[in-house]
Amino acid sequence: MSAVNGTQAKNRGVVVAVRGSVIDARFDDRLPPIYALLHAGDKEQIVMEVLAQPDARHVRGIALTTTHGLARGTVVLDTGGPLKAPVGKTILSRMFDVFGNVIDRGAALSDVQWRSVHRPPPPLAQRSTKSEVFETGIKVIDVLMPLERGGKGGLFGGAGVGKTVLLTEMIHNMVAHQDGVSIFCGIGERCREGEELYRGMKESGVLPRMVMLFGQMNEPPGARFRVGLAALTMAEYFRDDEHRSVLLLVDNIFRFIQAGMEVSGLMGQMPSRLGYQPTMGTELSSLEERIANTATGAITSIQAVYVPADDFTDPAAVHTFSHLSASIVLSRKRAGEGLYPAIDPLESNSRMATPDILGERHYRLAQEIRKTLAQYGALKDIISMLGLEQLSPEDRAVVGRARRLERFLTQPFFTTERFTGLKGKMVSVADALDGCERILADEFKDRPESALYMIGAVSEVKGRPPDANPVARTEPTPHAATAAPARGAPTHSPPSTTAAPRSEVPHGTSPHEP
Ligand SMILES: Nc1ncnc2c1ncn2[C@@H]1O[C@H](COP(=O)(O)OP(=O)(O)OP(=O)(O)O)[C@@H](O)[C@H]1O
Ligand SMILES: [Mg+2]
Repeated sequence: MSAVNGTQAKNRGVVVAVRGSVIDARFDDRLPPIYALLHAGDKEQIVMEVLAQPDARHVRGIALTTTHGLARGTVVLDTGGPLKAPVGKTILSRMFDVFGNVIDRGAALSDVQWRSVHRPPPPLAQRSTKSEVFETGIKVIDVLMPLERGGKGGLFGGAGVGKTVLLTEMIHNMVAHQDGVSIFCGIGERCREGEELYRGMKESGVLPRMVMLFGQMNEPPGARFRVGLAALTMAEYFRDDEHRSVLLLVDNIFRFIQAGMEVSGLMGQMPSRLGYQPTMGTELSSLEERIANTATGAITSIQAVYVPADDFTDPAAVHTFSHLSASIVLSRKRAGEGLYPAIDPLESNSRMATPDILGERHYRLAQEIRKTLAQYGALKDIISMLGLEQLSPEDRAVVGRARRLERFLTQPFFTTERFTGLKGKMVSVADALDGCERILADEFKDRPESALYMIGAVSEVKGRPPDANPVARTEPTPHAATAAPARGAPTHSPPSTTAAPRSEVPHGTSPHEP
């Protein structure tokens, strides 16, 4: 898209150095300002953004496209403005790249306004805060780490623990039920996922209220670095001009930091801790601080955050944590146990989890669940060394409750129906709380743990016969020494019981005998 066509007296410069994505250019007349967009190439297909002015004649910029064909002496044209994103009602249901070009093979855009992607966050005096919970229909989140309407929630996790699946499920559950606009921004992730999401949204009929932007992993660092700002510009339009509430979904904010790191390295800046850019904090806050609520509208944001090498002390993860009102931590261990969504309830937290916001009962139950799970965590070592039998009856009761809670807090997803074969479930907070309360009151202590696995509301347990699990049926006579050989089960019970914490469908682990 060329904004320079037609403008007379273009400010011209020449390329003096090309280093990967970083380009130095000399301008003899007028030096383009920071953030000015420059074009080069015979079709003006190479686009770069000025990031520094090393001296009175030179600018250093980062390319937002590939730099193939660029050489010293190539002419560059100053477009006279910064990178812009299209805004307007007609951008709904469309898919864009970082330049605001439509990439869904649909008709050209009409009736849009172009706005700079570089905008300041709203001043403090215009911000508004109200504490309201944003229901997701996912039990473990709504009960233990509720999201804030108009807040920022992060989904943290290493590679392949289910961030994208969880984010897509949230889109599925929330986009259909909220009246505002949703903006999905794909930063540095797989192109395939973008395409799948687009198709999914189209099929479920929510596309007319959605905008998608992609700067995926095949694109140069400059594009990945700026696509988030373009998405925010659109979100701000809907908030400030149309006074609508906006749901902004980002997969993956780490890739934004990483793109900044690549840019910074190419620009010749000194790396900071672990090779990250020295400006990571400011770059991230220039994006995150724009996600804010004003008196006219709110932007609720949910961001996936890749955690390199599962190391939660990584500077990128630490910086991101500090911006969020709810942090949902996904654990590889849980994913390995098949406890999806693999959320670690003890590592995750939310600023909403206070009695004033949730109400006394919800808060008390959440605390009790956390306490039970923490006690179980502490007992795990003893169980693996000595076996469940060595625990006191009270401790065994805690283990039984915790394991049933863990299973009840799993949930079949709509987005995974295709490969799990389980019908997706959305559960109201009331149902989820009710289930947890009844489990804590030991109402299901005689049911096999598996009866609670991958169900929706607790009422679904009733549908299953109490003796559906043959192993559970034999539980009442476990220490009848003669029974074991007859079943062909292991005669030495400790290994099977101690191995229980790792197994998905437990066997003989319920606190069955004194
Ligand atoms: N709720 C779930 N139910 C069943 N399987 C799941 C669930 N969540 C994740 N998985 C499994 O884990 C795989 C990886 O999930 P996903 O692509 O969401 O990971 P990710 O954290 O986004 O990974 P990456 O960092 O590579 O983007 C899925 O393909 C699926 O097999
Ligand atoms: Mg992913």
